[in-house]
Amino acid sequence: MKIDGTHYRTIWLADDGRAVEIIDQTKLPHEFTTLRLETAEDCARAIRDMNVRGAPLIGATAAYGICLALLADPSDAALDAACALLGATRPTAVNLHWAIAEMRAAVLPIGTQARAEAAFARAAALCDADVETCRMIGVHGLSIVRGIAEAKPGRPVNILTHCNAGWLGCVDWGTALAPIYMAHDAGIPVHVWVDETRPRNQGAALTAFELGGHGVPHTIIADNAGGHLMQHGHVDMCITGTDRTTATGDVANKIGTYLKALAADASGIPFYVALPHTTIDWSLTDGIAQIPIEERDAREITHVTGRAENGEIVTVEISAPGSAALNYGFDVTPARLITGLVTERGLCAASREGLLGLYPERRG
Ligand code: MRU
Repeated sequence: MKIDGTHYRTIWLADDGRAVEIIDQTKLPHEFTTLRLETAEDCARAIRDMNVRGAPLIGATAAYGICLALLADPSDAALDAACALLGATRPTAVNLHWAIAEMRAAVLPIGTQARAEAAFARAAALCDADVETCRMIGVHGLSIVRGIAEAKPGRPVNILTHCNAGWLGCVDWGTALAPIYMAHDAGIPVHVWVDETRPRNQGAALTAFELGGHGVPHTIIADNAGGHLMQHGHVDMCITGTDRTTATGDVANKIGTYLKALAADASGIPFYVALPHTTIDWSLTDGIAQIPIEERDAREITHVTGRAENGEIVTVEISAPGSAALNYGFDVTPARLITGLVTERGLCAASREGLLGLYPERRG
């Protein structure tokens, strides 16, 4: 997607081929800066500190982290160490482990002399595949938006989303936002309700930045406002991304997604989840019991960072000093609350049979 007319992906190989560059998402929306990552440790730090975030992008960054480790030392021991380091950065998004497994399988059979080159080729292919996958999610999701638009001619389709499941969370296009971009580009009037998404505000900071950059009408709302808007008929559909989807269609996504799904269910509003196949954990059958939920620093709740009126970026404390705070990063929305899953292969029910219908190679 474009920033100020220039096309960007969220991660790319540096010109000298010895590093990758990323958009530093901790600085958005106020500053557009890029970071150069030269080692696996740099990549692990960028994932942990959320300079990069979003399930597919975490996977892509880990893939390049393995490349950089092999550039320095192509031995099996270095490969193992990089996989362990990167795999321990964030627990919930399964794309991380998927990408590490893909990279490991690609380079292990290759002799150490050619390993780094093979790794870079594989990482680039994974990134290209993610772009195409997200584009196809957009194509399939567009049919949902179009259907709603046809039922209310001349009026915008009001879509509520949570967190950032746009191009900044992927390599390009995004998951939940891809259908919205496609609808907008197709001339379908859309308006997006953007949940601010406390505590890190990925909605207010990143989703709003993306949508604004693409010219998509949107309004930022407090996380608590969605239920009220749904009760009053101001939301036609919800769509979010996911960080891990069970084989039975439960999804883990940014904390607060579950409450939006409950509110949508109570108001009879369709609730869709968009995902690439890399987000499906086929080994799990019960999201609430089995998906590991990240717990992050309580300081993300007690403090906020933003731009002061003098233009300076400042961090301020917003809670009563000394009070305890608990910061779960994700929650699980059970399949029964999900109207449908939007994947690169099409739409399906959030169920084992639904997913197997799209991914029959997973049967048995
Ligand atoms: O903690 P984050 O910002 O990495 O969480 C991201 C999300 O929850 C997204 O909704 C998810 O990764 C969807 S796919 C882009």
